[in-house]
Amino acid sequence: MKKLKTPLIIVNFKTYLEATGQRALELAKKSERIANEFGVNIAVAPQAVDIAKIVSMVSIPVLAQHVDPYPPGAYTGSISMEAVKEAGAVGTLINHSEKRLRIDEVDEVIKRAASIGLEVVACANTPEVAASLSALRPDFIAIEPPELIGTGKAVSKTKPEVITNTIRLIKSVNPSVVVICGAGITSSDDVEAAIKLGTQGVLVASGVVRAKDQEEALRDLVRGLVRAYDARIL
Ligand code: G3P
Repeated sequence: MKKLKTPLIIVNFKTYLEATGQRALELAKKSERIANEFGVNIAVAPQAVDIAKIVSMVSIPVLAQHVDPYPPGAYTGSISMEAVKEAGAVGTLINHSEKRLRIDEVDEVIKRAASIGLEVVACANTPEVAASLSALRPDFIAIEPPELIGTGKAVSKTKPEVITNTIRLIKSVNPSVVVICGAGITSSDDVEAAIKLGTQGVLVASGVVRAKDQEEALRDLVRGLVRAYDARIL
């Protein structure tokens, strides 16, 4: 059974100080509060060292930001899938633009993750890369044009064609992959646009993590999600 439900907002904590250690826990609690308040799916992706503590204190899904493609053994300094799983993460981001893997490594991670019950959100920088990765059967693809990451210029409004092309190409390769998008998402309108373009969620970092009021920033994104889904129902 899938542990990540859609529509979904994933908050990537990266290594921002505002979401490290104690503050990572606080942001996870805020995310949980908003998820409960609106009845929406929010997952958080803290640094690996913060996963276990967060899992013990909140009930929303927790993801790793990265795992290495190796089996348990002599791989000093690596993040193993087994450790992430045992810490309580339900899955992991991989191949983020800030932490890329070779395609054979992505393949290895997806296979090993599936065998131990971790879900995989594979990031792609272009529609073509997204389509190639979808052939490897990750659970999710997150399309994120790197040039928009951290800019506050939302992919869903600045480059909507990147999203529609991604969805179109992925459908022809592996229609069961869930497509989300990220980069520059900061407002409810950005999220609403992303959903209306056909994604099932967003991956967001600075717009929430670095906001003056993290809770209000995330609440605003959720409002966009709710608006887009209400519009679909009507
Ligand atoms: O993983 C999310 C990400 O790369 C987008 O970052 O700061 O543009 O929301 P940001």
